[in-house]
Amino acid sequence: MIVFQDVRKVYGKGKAKRVEALKGINLHVKKGEIFGVIGFSGAGKSTLLRCVNLLERPTSGKVIVDGVDLLSLSPKELRKQRKKIGMIFQHFNLLHSKTVFGNVAMPLIIEGRPKHEIEKKVNQLLSFVGLEDKANQYPEQLSGGQKQRVGIARALATDPHILLCDEATSALDPDTTRSVLNLLKKVRDELGITILMITHEMNVIRDACDRVAVLEDGVIVEEDTVLNVFTEPKTEIARNFVRTVLNDSVPPTVREWIQRSRSENSNRRLFRIIFKGAATNEPLLSNTAKRFPVDLNILHGTITEMQGIPFGNLLVDVTGDREAIEQAVQYMQSQEVIIKEVADDAI
Ligand SMILES: Nc1ncnc2c1ncn2[C@@H]1O[C@H](COP(=O)(O)OP(=O)(O)OP(=O)(O)O)[C@@H](O)[C@H]1O
Ligand SMILES: [Mg+2]
Repeated sequence: MIVFQDVRKVYGKGKAKRVEALKGINLHVKKGEIFGVIGFSGAGKSTLLRCVNLLERPTSGKVIVDGVDLLSLSPKELRKQRKKIGMIFQHFNLLHSKTVFGNVAMPLIIEGRPKHEIEKKVNQLLSFVGLEDKANQYPEQLSGGQKQRVGIARALATDPHILLCDEATSALDPDTTRSVLNLLKKVRDELGITILMITHEMNVIRDACDRVAVLEDGVIVEEDTVLNVFTEPKTEIARNFVRTVLNDSVPPTVREWIQRSRSENSNRRLFRIIFKGAATNEPLLSNTAKRFPVDLNILHGTITEMQGIPFGNLLVDVTGDREAIEQAVQYMQSQEVIIKEVADDAI
């Protein structure tokens, strides 16, 4: 659906001004998925997103959308392709002198559609985004979440196949963020639109996306399903993003206790156990304690849900003799959970 082949983007000329914003991006966003790109400020997220509709032209590489190589198109052909790609923005970019109706109608007026058709379409869109009673209001009379709903309705006016979201919820509070993300899921589920969203917030990725790419300094350093990145992040940067929403850091008092008691008792080892899906319903710890001469003590834990799949993360202290601990760990590994020993300094 959206394919990037070795896309590079360099801004500025001359050594002093040269910024390599994208350093060879390869990406494949599938039809009907909600794909997230996360990264810190300056990582190149907006540049990447803007390359999808060629608001920014890559310095080299290919951008293929719906099977069409965009860089090979004439300006006229490109304009036609761009209609298939809608976009929404962090600060909504609404026209303040126009009503909600007028803002949503804008792309259709530009296309020269007949008046009755515009009226029907805009009313349909306003009802889809839940703003049918706000048609005659002006943007300044709306809340942030309502403004973004207008932005979404306007982006949908030309029946796009793809919706690009540039930090679309970054100006909103957590509850409003959730409701806008739910609307974006409805856009995908009911209209079959593929969504590419960039954000610096991992909760947005958790709540809305199917897959995620982590962008660092113009390079995709990690890419996987959201569930896999949350349960087994492979890079330090992904681990840090996950940590911002899954509070798996142990409170200082517990940490001190662990470190003190470990120096006193060498038969104690610490493990992080990650469960997903059906495994969260199994009494794994009590089964383990029944089968092997070990004691299991939960020191810290969280259970979250992602795309309807529960997922738990426990820090467990296991006490017993060496062999018993090994056997208990092997048993737990065979029960479809991820289990990793945690070093003292990694708590
Ligand atoms: N028009 C431009 N001219 C020169 N440099 C630019 C331009 N646009 C972006 N850059 C540079 O390219 C790099 C990537 O910028 P980009 O806006 O894509 O980052 P971002 O990940 O979207 O950041 P943020 O989260 O702050 O929006 C940055 O170093 C930025 O300064
Ligand atoms: Mg940006």
